[in-house]
Amino acid sequence: MNVDEIDTIAVLGAGNMGHGIAEVAALAGYEVRLRDINEELVENGYDQLEWSVGKLEEKDQLTEEEADAALDRVTPLVDLEETVSGTDVIIEVVPEKMEIKQDVYGEVEQYAPEDALFATNTSSLSITDLAEVTERPERFCGMHFFNPPVRMQLVEVISGEHTSDETLDTVEALAEEFGKSPVRVRKDSPGFIVNRVLVPLMNEAAWLVEDDVATMDEVDSTTTFELGLPMGSFELADQVGIDVGYHVLEYMHETLGDAYEPCPLLEAKVEAEELGKKTGKGFYDYEDGNGADIP
Ligand code: 3HC
Repeated sequence: MNVDEIDTIAVLGAGNMGHGIAEVAALAGYEVRLRDINEELVENGYDQLEWSVGKLEEKDQLTEEEADAALDRVTPLVDLEETVSGTDVIIEVVPEKMEIKQDVYGEVEQYAPEDALFATNTSSLSITDLAEVTERPERFCGMHFFNPPVRMQLVEVISGEHTSDETLDTVEALAEEFGKSPVRVRKDSPGFIVNRVLVPLMNEAAWLVEDDVATMDEVDSTTTFELGLPMGSFELADQVGIDVGYHVLEYMHETLGDAYEPCPLLEAKVEAEELGKKTGKGFYDYEDGNGADIP
């Protein structure tokens, strides 16, 4: 499939990344079907998308007409068959667990058009293993966005063992149509490029606090002011979701070895369901789920 043939995009999963990716696609002019497993989740995702589009309008990055048109292009749905039938590209953004993603693909395969491309927003899992449960491993690749998708420029386009060059070219061209800068990851390896670098940074920051070497504020101010990164490591973990970082680390620990052992501080936050901005509390507290209240 050529990028010019793409009109309709299904985004499966309306969480943090899902609604952000749906927003990016709608802003680029595509018809988008945003799906989650129940009304509450899909409505919550749509509300967040609406909030973000409203912010862009408030900051004069979009006119009122552009904002309304983008919102009109998004259809929130729960029914999977209705979501994927007739779509050109299906971007899967469900929780970062191999079994959950594989179950979803098994089901999606029943309804998806034969020539539709499958793209997974996995943060670390093997593209080849995910593609295995589908009947189209050559039309399957990774399309990894960064949080928040509407603000982050990079998209990793990751090849599985059987992904065709045509699929990679089309998905890369689609990322460009979204206004993003894609980077192609040629080898399917845990964490790809960015998370192989970034998630250990969050983990090491947590170990420094766990080992009583420094406080959270000391680590974050060092990262921000001395290393010049836009957010401290703990602030970043809250932004991406502590659970997301933790699951990536678990997988990297399992596949790459002990250097990636997750710090117990991260595990404790996941168990307490203090996952960051999306739950209103993570390492820091958030007033309204979006603005950080950082000391
Ligand atoms: N949509 C619209 N507006 C948004 C938004 C969104 N999704 N998210 C935040 N904003 C708004 C805020 O509400 C705030 O608005 P206000 O000014 O009215 O209060 C404003 O944007 C924030 O602007 P700031 O001036 O405070 O911050 P910056 O504009 O300088 O940058 C940032 C914000 C782009 C998020 C920047 O801090 C940054 O780049 N942080 C690093 C993020 C990062 O590295 N992400 C990748 C993580 S790794 C990942 O996602 C991979 C995964 O697999 C783990």
